[in-house]
Amino acid sequence: MVKPVLEGTVALVTGASSGIGAATAAALAAQGAAVALAARRKDRLEALAAGIRDQGGSALVLECDVTQEQQAIDAVARTVAELGRLDTLINNAGVMLLGPVVGAPLSEWQQMVELNVLGLLYCAHAALPHLLRAAGDSPRQVADMVNISSVAGRVARNGNGVYSLTKHGVGAFSESLRQELTKRYVRVSLVEPGATATELASHNRAEVLESIRNQFGQTMQAEDIADAITYIVTRPRHVAVNEMLIRPTEQER
Ligand SMILES: NC(=O)c1ccc[n+]([C@@H]2O[C@H](COP(=O)([O-])OP(=O)(O)OC[C@H]3O[C@@H](n4cnc5c(N)ncnc54)[C@H](OP(=O)(O)O)[C@@H]3O)[C@@H](O)[C@H]2O)c1
Repeated sequence: MVKPVLEGTVALVTGASSGIGAATAAALAAQGAAVALAARRKDRLEALAAGIRDQGGSALVLECDVTQEQQAIDAVARTVAELGRLDTLINNAGVMLLGPVVGAPLSEWQQMVELNVLGLLYCAHAALPHLLRAAGDSPRQVADMVNISSVAGRVARNGNGVYSLTKHGVGAFSESLRQELTKRYVRVSLVEPGATATELASHNRAEVLESIRNQFGQTMQAEDIADAITYIVTRPRHVAVNEMLIRPTEQER
């Protein structure tokens, strides 16, 4: 039997309790990775972990809020302490609160900056020493950080000002870090999904939900994005997929 590509590696997925994160954790586990599942809703993580274990995989549940610096640090530390190492970080947890800038509740902007930017940075900072070690001592001799941006990280639109700001920031940080780490074999990749059927939009205010109702036509499934992420982290050592922009076929903008 062919050995699964990620056997012997450990992946930490943030925002693993739903949508793209949950699908990605399951997909990486199917490739042989032991997965650490981080999010606030522990019951969801427990259910996902049980499913992964039923398939013969290994999963660790990490109930945490990555906007709290110490909880992000602890999530990484527990991953390494309990699963032995860290080869892959999927920086996925995010929130999208849309609507006009004028009159927007500042609390929504704070939530997006704290999670999409600071939460991602806390996880990246805590994970990097372990990723660098994995790139040096693992049989694959390469490690991965995959940061989840959005089409909104490429193009700003009327109505997504601060969400777009956070995702442009993720793109800039990822490209800078990619350049810093090329020779050290920690690959930094940016994934920019278009409309994907998850819980993401459901966190918006009722009036915003009403106004965006017709904005999203065809959608992808979380598994479609998980498939792309799996492709990225299973490339051979000398191949780095720097950026992947993925839209539903019918999505124009
Ligand atoms: N769906 C799309 O159309 C789309 C398009 C482009 C980009 N994206 C990006 O894809 C990523 C995943 O989103 P999704 O679509 O899968 O949405 P989702 O189903 O709402 O998933 C978001 C995840 O983030 C977690 N999360 C939220 N706050 C957190 C916190 N403080 N600490 C830790 N985890 C937290 C949530 O878990 P808990 O609530 O349990 O903490 C959940 O697991 C996001 O970065 C999003 O911006 C999505």
